[in-house]
Amino acid sequence: MNAPDTAQALDARHVMQTYARLPVTFVRGEGTVLHDAEGRRYLDFLSGLAVTSLGHAHPEVADAIADQARTLLHVSNLYHNDLQPRLAARIDALVGGGGRVFFCNSGAEANECALKLARRHARAHGATDRYHVVSAYGSFHGRTMTTLAATGQPAKHEPFQPLPEGFRYVPFADLRSLEAAVDERVAAVLLEPVQGEGGVHAAPPEYLQGVRRLCDEREVLLVLDEVQTGFGRTGEWFGFAHAGVRPDVVTMAKALGNGVPIGACWARAEVAAAFAPGDHATTFGGQPLAARAALAVLDVMERERVPERAARAGARLRERLARVPGVTGVRGLGLLLAAELAPGTDARDVAGRCLAAGLVVNAVTPSALRFAPSLLVRDDEIDEAVAILTGVLAGAGAGAGS
Ligand code: F0G
Repeated sequence: MNAPDTAQALDARHVMQTYARLPVTFVRGEGTVLHDAEGRRYLDFLSGLAVTSLGHAHPEVADAIADQARTLLHVSNLYHNDLQPRLAARIDALVGGGGRVFFCNSGAEANECALKLARRHARAHGATDRYHVVSAYGSFHGRTMTTLAATGQPAKHEPFQPLPEGFRYVPFADLRSLEAAVDERVAAVLLEPVQGEGGVHAAPPEYLQGVRRLCDEREVLLVLDEVQTGFGRTGEWFGFAHAGVRPDVVTMAKALGNGVPIGACWARAEVAAAFAPGDHATTFGGQPLAARAALAVLDVMERERVPERAARAGARLRERLARVPGVTGVRGLGLLLAAELAPGTDARDVAGRCLAAGLVVNAVTPSALRFAPSLLVRDDEIDEAVAILTGVLAGAGAGAGS
């Protein structure tokens, strides 16, 4: 984090300036640790953005990727490959069974699939004017035109109007508002079990149970965006398990490839049947490389019982964070947590000073930091991260890790 390095100078000249990047260039990682181009060590308590749930450079995942690269990287979806259906079966079992999976390459694409499927499903039932989707204020579902429209953050919409029509927004965790918004034109309700990018706000279980009942009564699909919460992060395989509800459609991405891009949209078999060949497709979705990486990820996750580990490590992190002077509250589930900072504290500034002190976290709101470390994070790493934050909030944040 001294003078901009070569990569940062090239970025400034040649890369579209869509990110307000912090001045650090990461070159290598192992587990919860990252190293920058200057040889500094950092504790990664963000994991990309909740992506590297098994930590960086997990040996088993790396071996699977390398082996697959020497075997078969890609074949078109015009043909079968031997890995995609095996991965679909594994995901279906984790979701609870009885469904089918479409593979894509990102969270936005997984949601795009779910939104198209919701329209197609309504039409398959003869309801051509039933295409509206209700989502929540403060949600985040992606940056494509349609997933941006589904994202309940009007400020993000403004520069890109007109967006695709048919989206309505309600306050999160407010069942009355949802009841009022779901009429005969609504095909689906789209929610995150824990709003991640929006500030780490968990839906109360009774809210999701109420949403499920409402969707059943009004014959509307319940689509849960588990792109950030999926695969153990909340302390359960999926966020919906905390409420004991069964969604009709589940979208996922981030942790599934531990850094290899992959997204997936699971749907109950009857819903999935609304798609006929030709209705939806992608060149790269479910290719052998990504499917092989994801199979290795799920092998490790199941063996290591990552949901239980996330619950246990999350309880420790939550408890330690709550005791840090300058932290006024901790919220979230499992290892997806936010620490609310004392009034007047600028979370972006604190995140920048944490980075300089060797801790990677992000300012998820102007006043809160997001923590999403590897689900295999060790207790001593949790304690070290909390010590760094404590020092930063005490004003002793200068200097980098060594
Ligand atoms: N859905 C959720 C719940 C997300 O958190 C994200 C991304 C997406 C969809 C979009 O996924 O980027 O792979 O297309 N969340 C990031 C964050 C931006 O900061 O939480 P993508």
